[in-house]
Amino acid sequence: MAIHDYDVVRQDIKGIILQPGYDDGSIGPVLVRLAWHASGTYDKTTKTGGSDGGTMRYSIESNDPANAGLDHARAFLEPIKQKHDWISYGDLWTLAGVVAIESMGGPKIPWKPGRKDKPESAVPPNGRLPNAEEGADHIRQVFYRMGFTDREIVALIGAHCLGRCHGDRSGYEGKWTYTPTRFNTQFFVMLTKQNWQEKKLENGLVQYADEKDQLMMLPADMAFLYDTGFKEIVEIYAHDKQTFFDDFAAAFGKLLELGVNREDNVTKL
Ligand code: HEM
Repeated sequence: MAIHDYDVVRQDIKGIILQPGYDDGSIGPVLVRLAWHASGTYDKTTKTGGSDGGTMRYSIESNDPANAGLDHARAFLEPIKQKHDWISYGDLWTLAGVVAIESMGGPKIPWKPGRKDKPESAVPPNGRLPNAEEGADHIRQVFYRMGFTDREIVALIGAHCLGRCHGDRSGYEGKWTYTPTRFNTQFFVMLTKQNWQEKKLENGLVQYADEKDQLMMLPADMAFLYDTGFKEIVEIYAHDKQTFFDDFAAAFGKLLELGVNREDNVTKL
């Protein structure tokens, strides 16, 4: 059996991250979102969902409104899948998120291969990913279902330092920070420092804008300011980059591992 060289795949992913014609010149943020949405369907009670299986290949899951726009991320990665046809989609998509974070200046994320593409019957039900219109109760419900603690939830939302909202995907519009292609503490800094005002969009959705109307927050992001338990942790990360990086790396690594059953995958090969 040929040796599977994940370092070569890492290099190939690194090589496609800068894309001058796309958004802010990088597909890093949308790759991070793909890794998160492929993993965040996990339900610890039924042990269903998660990145093992690469089930976003199937239209039921790719058409979940929460996944709108992730077709771009998958399409950018497809030539790499064709070149290294031995890699599973679950491994490729999660590794792409890891490489993207690292190449945008973020921490090194623990990552292990071993996911296996599964049949359509493994697709989890739609609606398991968080709804941006909701507050702290909903956020806790969704992330507790995956098995996360409050501190891990706050660390994970720090990824909103990256990228932007797209009117034609989620319906929301704009970016959270002035550095959308750099992984840093700016989501927490902006959340706590700016004077956020409610802003009603033409499509009826409500988001929040800073005084200059250059940055945005989702209602769900504001929950991290309004909920005192979340806010305490937000304050820690806003002031301590190393603690945020360490906690984020651990939480994101855990997210990518949810539901990955290597023993089962090996015996079924
Ligand atoms: C309460 C939880 C969350 C909610 C409600 C939420 C919601 C959203 C929404 C509505 C968008 C805009 C999508 C678009 O229009 O393109 C977005 C983008 C994004 N989200 Fe989240 N998210 C959550 C948690 C997370 C987590 C845990 C991560 C990663 C660890 C993450 C990473 C990202 C990234 C990187 C983008 C930018 C994508 C791009 O630029 O294309 N989000 N999120």
